[in-house]
Amino acid sequence: MRRIARIVSGKPSEEDTPLDTSLRPRHLADFTGQDKTKDNLKIAIDAAKGRDEALDHVLFYGPPGLGKTCLAHIIAVEVGANIRTTSGPAIERTGDLAAILTNLKKHDILFIDEIHRLNRTVEEILYPALEDFALDIIIGKGPGAKSLRLNLPSFTLIGATTRYALLSPPLRDRFGAVYRLDFYDHTSLEKILKRSARILQVQADEGGLKEIARRARGTPRVANRLLKRVRDYAQVMADGIITEEIARAALTKLEVDEIGLDEVDHKVLHTIIEKFNGGPVGLDTIAASISEESDTVTDVYEPYLMQLGFLERTPRGRVATRLAYEHLGLPYNKSNQPKML
Ligand SMILES: Nc1ncnc2c1ncn2[C@@H]1O[C@H](COP(=O)(O)OP(=O)(O)OP(=O)(O)O)[C@@H](O)[C@H]1O
Ligand SMILES: [Mg+2]
Repeated sequence: MRRIARIVSGKPSEEDTPLDTSLRPRHLADFTGQDKTKDNLKIAIDAAKGRDEALDHVLFYGPPGLGKTCLAHIIAVEVGANIRTTSGPAIERTGDLAAILTNLKKHDILFIDEIHRLNRTVEEILYPALEDFALDIIIGKGPGAKSLRLNLPSFTLIGATTRYALLSPPLRDRFGAVYRLDFYDHTSLEKILKRSARILQVQADEGGLKEIARRARGTPRVANRLLKRVRDYAQVMADGIITEEIARAALTKLEVDEIGLDEVDHKVLHTIIEKFNGGPVGLDTIAASISEESDTVTDVYEPYLMQLGFLERTPRGRVATRLAYEHLGLPYNKSNQPKML
């Protein structure tokens, strides 16, 4: 299947790895936006530290690039604990998880990314570990098998997922705190960009950063990536300083429109509007039109289009709204529109 490399994808790409690490805030105070989550986390961290207990298990969910991994690392710094990182698909067997758990020290943090992809047998080992800090090991087979309970140090699990709905209810219930990360507003993105520009030693004026923020799809990872691309453009095509004009020219050249939509988003909207008269259209049909998997459409494309109010989910499929027509400059003929359910 043809993969489309997108500059505005919230998902990490190879070029992001060094960028993500160098620009990742280390402390809660450097983390811009998500104020409700930050306030609640701060209270929980202070309380746990005051009682000398491990922080309650935490789950972060939301679209890619909004800061889930970042917050997990920040929590570790703030509580002064070690962090051990892994991911759902990396833990293949129960033994893998048992090895990780038995190596944890008191108050350590275990970060499991993509936790919705843990397999069910592994997940079951996790339940007593989360609830009672215990590991149940079965020794032997058949009727003679014995179960042995190993105590674990108290630790904190931090889970991250882009797909909350795919988490099994028993796993969800074991998190003491669940935080949904939202898209960032332009002001927060501008602040993030200002900090990144300082770290990367990029010269940019306010208008330039504002323009990048407007086109960054509410996503810090995208904002940082666009900043880097615009910097290159400014260096080659101008005097290296990012102004509004330079940012606009660079991003237009990269085919990122004034609200951050790229060619693929346009294709999604055009498919729904032109081929299906505005919808409803099934998810699989949309996915096929852009040669992507349905999961990617749900995780990566839809959240931002829905946030903009361009797309609505109905029981019969996705529907393009008037705003989407207006953005594309297409006539919206209401009588042609299917009724919303
Ligand atoms: N609030 C923030 N302030 C400053 N920078 C941020 C913030 N949130 C995210 N970033 C930047 O965006 C990058 C991506 O964030 P992060 O890796 O935490 O996203 P994520 O939610 O874990 O994404 P994924 O779902 O792909 O794992 C970080 O490296 C950091 O540079
Ligand atoms: Mg992450």
